[in-house]
Amino acid sequence: MSQKRLQEISNQISKIAISNNHSIITKEVLRSNDKDAIHKALDKLNNWINNPNSDIKQLEQTGIFIAMLELLNNEDIEIVRHIVLIFKLLTLKDTILNEILRSLDAVHKLELLLESSYDPMVLEDTATAIECLRRCTPYSIRRVGLGQYNENNGQFQWTLDLQQLHYKDVGVAWRVWDAGIGFTRWILENPQIFEGKEVLELGAGLGIAGLAAGLLCQSVLMTDYTPKIVSTLRENVKMNSVRSKLIRDACKVAPLDWTKDKVPKPFHYQVIIGTEVVYDVNLVEHLANVIHQSLTPDGVFYGTAATIRRGIPEFIKCMEDKFEFEVKVTDFPKRFVPDTNFDTYFFECRKRKNQIPLASSSSSSDDSNQYLDQSSAQQ
Ligand SMILES: C[S@@+](CC[C@H](N)C(=O)[O-])C[C@H]1O[C@@H](n2cnc3c(N)ncnc32)[C@H](O)[C@@H]1O
Repeated sequence: MSQKRLQEISNQISKIAISNNHSIITKEVLRSNDKDAIHKALDKLNNWINNPNSDIKQLEQTGIFIAMLELLNNEDIEIVRHIVLIFKLLTLKDTILNEILRSLDAVHKLELLLESSYDPMVLEDTATAIECLRRCTPYSIRRVGLGQYNENNGQFQWTLDLQQLHYKDVGVAWRVWDAGIGFTRWILENPQIFEGKEVLELGAGLGIAGLAAGLLCQSVLMTDYTPKIVSTLRENVKMNSVRSKLIRDACKVAPLDWTKDKVPKPFHYQVIIGTEVVYDVNLVEHLANVIHQSLTPDGVFYGTAATIRRGIPEFIKCMEDKFEFEVKVTDFPKRFVPDTNFDTYFFECRKRKNQIPLASSSSSSDDSNQYLDQSSAQQ
């Protein structure tokens, strides 16, 4: 038999081995206490990954990745060496599997190993895998898996695709930020806040948070300010609308520059969201003004910002002193943002109860004194 034919047969076997009962890489074997069986399975997986004809899609469908990540904590150093080598080989391929691994917090789990291991082989392969996973290529489409991960079919409860841009074109709006992903996870864990509500998103960037809100709320108006960001936001809504009718029905996009535009609907939105929008001292008063003018009397602004961002104290002071909000700032739980090295604040801002409307609605956004303190109104 010719070498070529042998290779073809080997390729076929490799594909069949993955697709038939996922026989070489069952989760059960990886989770067993049988070290030999685990090594054999990883050997086969290694060969399969190195085979140029292997179809990555088939591996994706096995839903094997959580079981693989669990092996990073195995007490047997040989197994740990073996699994990180496999992660290195997989992540170097830079396929959609990297997005799946990122969505399963692989970066964080590998970083914990990097901090705790003294084994040179483990350290080298782990560092390479982390580097590959952290790579965030401009203009690439970032796929973020959210909610439950189904180990039977390798699907997440929700999947969002986001077209990324380049810093030179749109500044800080170019990529999907970890705090944005974290805020999105928080949204999906708190559906009661969004269900039936009209939501406004400020500084949406590529739109990850607004898209997630669109899965839950009645409507969400996603806004940002440059034409390029706004057109990409529209594209991202369109791309995700194919998969989700909820997004198609709920998500709308509009330009809104906090420094000069009138707010779309004054005192109208029950929920306003903004992730990483507090970052520039010169913008915080404009931002606070838009929140003040857009929120209903009993509405709430929810947002996050890395604690190192500029303008956070100024934003809080302006919201409290100028616009009479109650501002609650808490530490955003690390589980929402496991990949960031920075701590993150979570903002919850409500209008003080003693604010009463002077007029029930207004088409003008210029009147930032629409709401007065009740005590002064009574005098
Ligand atoms: C750090 S990015 C955060 C983007 C997105 N929310 C996220 O978490 O990925 C800040 C966002 O604020 C937007 N922004 C900056 N200045 C603005 C302005 N004057 N009016 C409206 N949006 C603005 C930027 O375009 C950018 O999308």
